[in-house]
Amino acid sequence: MSKKSKKLTTGVATLVAPASHAAIVPVRDRHLRFNERWNYSPAPEVHTDIKIQPRYDLFIGGKFVKPSSGKYFPSINPATEKQHAEIAQGTAADVDKAVKAARRAYEKTWGKMPGRERGKYLFRIARLLQEKMRDLAVIESLDGGKTIRESRNIDLPLVAAHFFYHAGWADKLDYAFPGRKPQPLGVAGQIIPWNFPLLMAAWKLAPALACGNTCVLKPAETTSVTAMHLAEILAEADLPEGVVNIVTGFGDTGAAIVNHPDIDKLAFTGSTEVGKIIAKSVAGTRKKLTLELGGKAANIICEDAPIDQAIEGIIQGIYFNQGHVCCAGSRLFVQESIVEPVIRRLRNRLSTLRVGDPLDKNTDIGAINSREQLGKIREMVESGKKEGAELFQPACKLPSKGFFFAPSFFTGVTDSHRIAQEEIFGPVLSVMTFRTPEEALERANNTPYGLSAGVWTDKGSKVFKLATQLRAGVIWAETYNKFDPASPFGGYKESGFGREGGKQGLLSYLKLG
Ligand code: NAI
Ligand code: MG
Repeated sequence: MSKKSKKLTTGVATLVAPASHAAIVPVRDRHLRFNERWNYSPAPEVHTDIKIQPRYDLFIGGKFVKPSSGKYFPSINPATEKQHAEIAQGTAADVDKAVKAARRAYEKTWGKMPGRERGKYLFRIARLLQEKMRDLAVIESLDGGKTIRESRNIDLPLVAAHFFYHAGWADKLDYAFPGRKPQPLGVAGQIIPWNFPLLMAAWKLAPALACGNTCVLKPAETTSVTAMHLAEILAEADLPEGVVNIVTGFGDTGAAIVNHPDIDKLAFTGSTEVGKIIAKSVAGTRKKLTLELGGKAANIICEDAPIDQAIEGIIQGIYFNQGHVCCAGSRLFVQESIVEPVIRRLRNRLSTLRVGDPLDKNTDIGAINSREQLGKIREMVESGKKEGAELFQPACKLPSKGFFFAPSFFTGVTDSHRIAQEEIFGPVLSVMTFRTPEEALERANNTPYGLSAGVWTDKGSKVFKLATQLRAGVIWAETYNKFDPASPFGGYKESGFGREGGKQGLLSYLKLG
């Protein structure tokens, strides 16, 4: 397929416009005309065979147990606003039970087990995840609102890949750190957010387990369902009881994990605000801490960049997954000489994005995860308008029910606008211009965050120059939002500290003797 015809599709190969169409339509109108001519029929993923349970209990000591509070809270489908399950509300007493179960498992079985044996469990979990991938992807989309295309093509393959990758490390830790004696830390408390529910669970659990730690995991309150299906998989894999415990609940349940005296290590991914609270609570204790917090990534397009490719990178970087990505390329820096074609193509491309049913295979932008998050996005967009930036939104019909937001971008943004400073965590891009790469660099770094960045240029030397001076943990060149378990991920400055993934990520779960 030629690059030109590929650009016209939003995911379904059979709908590519014929070559003759590409030849007669002027470049600037291609997307709009294409969208007018071709209407996709709905292509929803069939899910009548997939069961979400009416109620999910806690997973402690290898068993599903009722919360000591006796309370459950609703989990809703953000695309329909309908409740589809109840989730157990874990308390400090439940957390205490979970930590005790994890401690027993650490001392009796897991901490002593040779790495090659631990690795076998991880391989088994990875294979079970692969077998159940389709069901898990559908549940992830139903529960969290992300498109089936993302959950099936990105989240779930990466979930399995993280277990496979770390299974491979379990018996090779001595070789990873020659001359040192790597030892597990003990019981790890792990608190995760709602943007990549199962993937974040895998990011946290797989390295911890490979290194010989036991875990108490708390999923986010809006996306707990797939974590409980993972618990079933862990039980099916015969993982010894107490090695992984999952306690669902709200922020207070998370705080009970943070403040439990018998936790050796804490790993948190979520807002910078909560990250700071956790850092304060842990200060002065023996607990080791890693934090993966927010971001306000700069995506820098130089005048010699391949523009069409860069546009796809922008779309990938901020619009897919509803912009619910901590490393989203939310500040776009465009070199002045190419502003006009970039804005024009961005406008055209946004006009082809389909917003709606997350389970439809043609959908590009699914549901915003919660009413609360939708409110936050709206509030930020209002602030952008008030501060004088200019908003572009394509004409697109949003579903009448559910939490949806049209893909948007702002021009006329200055560095001091809130939309250029604060995390929006939605499909909203702030476009700014620059004259020289040096200027782009300085302004890209002018943020309290430093999680990721992107560079688009034809020149390898410019990539190296910018990448070495950008103060961000992950830098993509000529691509965006690509992940691999072998590649370490983490932030600078207020984006957190510690790394997840790769050999560096193992250090978050080991002490080196
Ligand atoms: P959050 O930071 O409140 O939630 C993340 C996790 O922390 C959840 O499991 C939550 O229950 C738990 N938690 C909340 N308060 C806690 C406390 N005091 N102690 C321990 N655990 C606690 O994030 P929230 O409120 O869902 O989203 C707010 C903003 O944070 C978003 O709008 C976005 O800007 C950012 N965010 C960043 C993420 C990232 O990947 N870095 C992921 C999700 C949100
Ligand atoms: Mg919060």
